[in-house]
Amino acid sequence: SSQLTILGIETSCDETAAAVVTRAADGHGEILGEVVLSQLEEHSAYGGVVPEIAARAHVEALDSLISEALLRSGRTLADVDAIAATSGPGLIGGLIVGLMTGKAIARATGKPLYAVNHLEGHALTARLTDGVAFPYLMLLVSGGHTQLVLVRGVDDYERWGTTIDDALGEAFDKTAKLLGLPYPGGPAVERMAKSGNAERFTFPRPLVGEARLDFSFSGLKTAVRQAAQSIEPVTEQDIADICASFQRAVSRTLKDRIGRGLERFRTLYPDVATPALVVAGGVAANAELRATLQTLCDKNRFRFIAPPMALCTDNAAMIAWAGLERMAVGLSADDLSVAPRSRWP
Ligand code: KG4
Ligand code: ZN
Repeated sequence: SSQLTILGIETSCDETAAAVVTRAADGHGEILGEVVLSQLEEHSAYGGVVPEIAARAHVEALDSLISEALLRSGRTLADVDAIAATSGPGLIGGLIVGLMTGKAIARATGKPLYAVNHLEGHALTARLTDGVAFPYLMLLVSGGHTQLVLVRGVDDYERWGTTIDDALGEAFDKTAKLLGLPYPGGPAVERMAKSGNAERFTFPRPLVGEARLDFSFSGLKTAVRQAAQSIEPVTEQDIADICASFQRAVSRTLKDRIGRGLERFRTLYPDVATPALVVAGGVAANAELRATLQTLCDKNRFRFIAPPMALCTDNAAMIAWAGLERMAVGLSADDLSVAPRSRWP
């Protein structure tokens, strides 16, 4: 097939986003125009994403964001070959807004609609940015997800590990909250950790040493609460020490879990010369965790691939790209009766 161009729409959480992306016959992709509107300010007063506020904000912003993405791309709706919209998993109100908008455009223009799984968007982004070949491993660490996934091909995934309680970003956010740090907690904890002593507290490293590749972070959060409560009064330095010790425990846990994943990959694919570990999700912004993963990959002779942060966090270019990849392998478009799914493993 020749060059394909697609309009992507993302509304599954608290980012409203639209993008126009193109894919050449040789598999090379390019973002022609994109725009992401973060709702962070609408939600920060509540210390987390409020679904009803998110859905309303998507309704207000989406039409003009789509126009803006098209404008930046220098294309019109007539130029695109298809529409891709996130149809799950995520907050149902937002998903309805994005998917219904995608359906309306598809119906009005007569173009095919691809209902994209948000996680598939994250999983395939490294092929847009770095042209990574199948198979590879992907670690998704965001506010809603913590998963280690084997990416065998388009529409062909195997989840090797997931969290049995809190997502990693959630653990950062809850830790920040109970230490009185602002939302979102990840950046705040990382900032404080810089001046802290990581050796002061030995927090639990859940599931370390276990053969299965799952994650668990709720015990860590409980240990942080107990540490904070054991000190009276809590100083700025105490908080920094707790943050540094928390981050250290997370690092060690990831090193163990992901290390096992890399070994399993090697065993399964001994012939893949330079296997790759790809990261995605907001927690991938954390410098200590990145350094830990980089070192781990170097040691195991894996390529460590971290796409630019703007493409690691929620965006519409990844949804457009997933749609393009689905088209390119001949997967059929979705019927306009397709329903949004808040849960979609
Ligand atoms: O992927 P993302 O932007 O949104 C979704 O969850 O969909 O991820 C947001 C999460 C939040 O929990 C936030 O605290 C965390 O990523 N995060 C970080 C850092 N920056 C963002 N966690 C640790 N260190 C950071 N520097
Ligand atoms: Zn996401």
